[in-house]
Amino acid sequence: MIKDLLERATEARNNAYAPYSKFPVGTCLRGAKGGLFAGCNVENSAYPCGTCAETGAIAAMVLAGESRINEILVVGPDDEHLCAPCGSCRQRLHEFADAATPVHIYGPGGLQLSTTLGQLLPYSFEFR
Ligand code: THU
Repeated sequence: MIKDLLERATEARNNAYAPYSKFPVGTCLRGAKGGLFAGCNVENSAYPCGTCAETGAIAAMVLAGESRINEILVVGPDDEHLCAPCGSCRQRLHEFADAATPVHIYGPGGLQLSTTLGQLLPYSFEFR
């Protein structure tokens, strides 16, 4: 059931700080122990200092003592853009998830795409 993820991600998106792009994003991760970890993008007037929603959610998860992700949901602000995780966040998510981990991408109008992290980041780098 992804309703819980969608609710938390939408709440997070509504608190995003995105005055420059005007593109608020929310994410919610389901940890392997069942916890939910939300994040939003936090931009900065020095543009490269901004952080993505996924980055914030990963930080919240690690802070809470969780290190495996079972499910990922991202919600963007409109239905024109597919709010897929950026390249850097795909790699960040990969650190804590598997190729089979589901990734659900929503807009205000509903589900845009359900895929997996492996589909989004094939031939990913691993150094463990
Ligand atoms: N952004 C995210 O937070 N997550 C994504 O999945 C895609 C893009 C943010 C970064 C920036 O604050 C804004 O969306 C526009 O790129």
